[in-house]
Amino acid sequence: MADEQAEAAEDQGGVATGKGSLTVTDNRTGETYEVEINDGTVRAMDFRGMKVTDDDFGLMTYDPAFTNTASCRSSITYIDGEAGVLEHRGYSIEQLCEQSTFLEVAYLLVHGELPGKAGLDCWTHVITHHTYVHENIKKSMEGFRYDAHPMAMLLSTVGALSSFYPGAKKLEDETERYMAVVRLIAKMPTLAAFAYRHNLGLPSVYPDNDLSYPGNFLSMLYRMTEVSYEPDPRLERALEVLWILHADHEQNCSTAAVRAVGSSQVDPYSAVAAGIAALYGPLHGGANEAVLQMLERIGTVENIPAFLQGVKDRKERLMGFGHRVYKNYDPRARIIKKHVDEVLEATEAGNPKLEIAQELEKHALDDEYFTDRKLYPNVDFYSGLIYEALSIPSDMFTVMFAIPRTAGWLAQWLEMVCDPETKIARPRQIYTGARQLDYVPMDQR
Ligand code: ACO
Repeated sequence: MADEQAEAAEDQGGVATGKGSLTVTDNRTGETYEVEINDGTVRAMDFRGMKVTDDDFGLMTYDPAFTNTASCRSSITYIDGEAGVLEHRGYSIEQLCEQSTFLEVAYLLVHGELPGKAGLDCWTHVITHHTYVHENIKKSMEGFRYDAHPMAMLLSTVGALSSFYPGAKKLEDETERYMAVVRLIAKMPTLAAFAYRHNLGLPSVYPDNDLSYPGNFLSMLYRMTEVSYEPDPRLERALEVLWILHADHEQNCSTAAVRAVGSSQVDPYSAVAAGIAALYGPLHGGANEAVLQMLERIGTVENIPAFLQGVKDRKERLMGFGHRVYKNYDPRARIIKKHVDEVLEATEAGNPKLEIAQELEKHALDDEYFTDRKLYPNVDFYSGLIYEALSIPSDMFTVMFAIPRTAGWLAQWLEMVCDPETKIARPRQIYTGARQLDYVPMDQR
């Protein structure tokens, strides 16, 4: 049995070797197995050899929301949720926000290391020169209803880009892969701004190659009759920081969607469209929009205790609080919080919701219900207030998240495509339905 087990383990990729292993006794049979532990992890396939009878399928693991399952090896983003640490390719999020730019962080995520001057200049040049979209893409966006949700427009338009770049299907071609990465990062702000202007009934503004990545986005949002648009450097920097903060976050829901859909070897435009769809949901990227709606509903500071009681009675959810991984203050929330005042000052847009948000945070952090459950503000708690100060309507908030996350999705997609362990993602299930029923003709039902 021991030999068979070792052979089975080898087939599945793991060989149990004593010390770094787990000894498992299957009490159904009395058999004992050694399962190898690598990187604090056991391979689910090492359990398949544990059977009651020879024709038994073998033991599976059950983890419906992947709460304790690593789906890949990755060297892109490190999170220590207990300590509130976030690093990209080894660099802390605090240092990147203070010293870097969004495009440099995108380079870091995609290439694995910080660029030299020439490398960054070339990357910036190539991204800047791929910001235009085919006129037919623009025309297709004009076909949406005037009040179409911009996230729905983005989702379908990114999917449509796949038809404009059929070469992107050649996943084995390094140049095609690189061009898809460049095009998606370059065009995402253009598509986002086109969606915004469509909702307002305003003509689209074409990209301006003389501006920075966030500066150009502000121009595409706000430019009217001026010959050239000059973005406020304070707002440009605030956007830069917000986008660095949202660039990647390891195996979150939308990244897992990009990897799972991409594992079918579909083109990256379609895989990223799947990521956008996942981000659209209120428990993920849609949370920042939900935070503002919640603050609006609370209305005044006096209503906070009653609102929090509603949360404790499970009639409400405290949006912008809690995180699957962070069981401490989300480091991104701490950085954003510092920028809220700066943006409000630059835009001279006093916002009564800020006071409600700050008081709400204080009350929640003072309340055992939330501290016992390790519920702290996440990245979305304050980001909506900055977007609102920038006069960005709330249904654009998730779009503002999708722009920078595109860099993370693509870095993760590239890593997945180039990983020799990648196979099509295909989970198992525990079947709970009926079996082997006889078909009943319609007149006998
Ligand atoms: N408000 C009230 N209670 C909460 C909240 C919340 N925001 N979040 C978690 N809880 C409670 C749960 O009810 C649960 O309590 P219980 O053990 O008494 O049943 C406990 O805290 C543990 O929470 P889970 O639901 O197990 O946490 P999970 O990891 O599944 O969910 C999630 C994480 C989805 C982010 C959740 O905290 C949530 O819904 N937050 C609000 C939405 C939000 O802000 N999302 C943005 C996340 S960041 C991002 O995507 C960029």
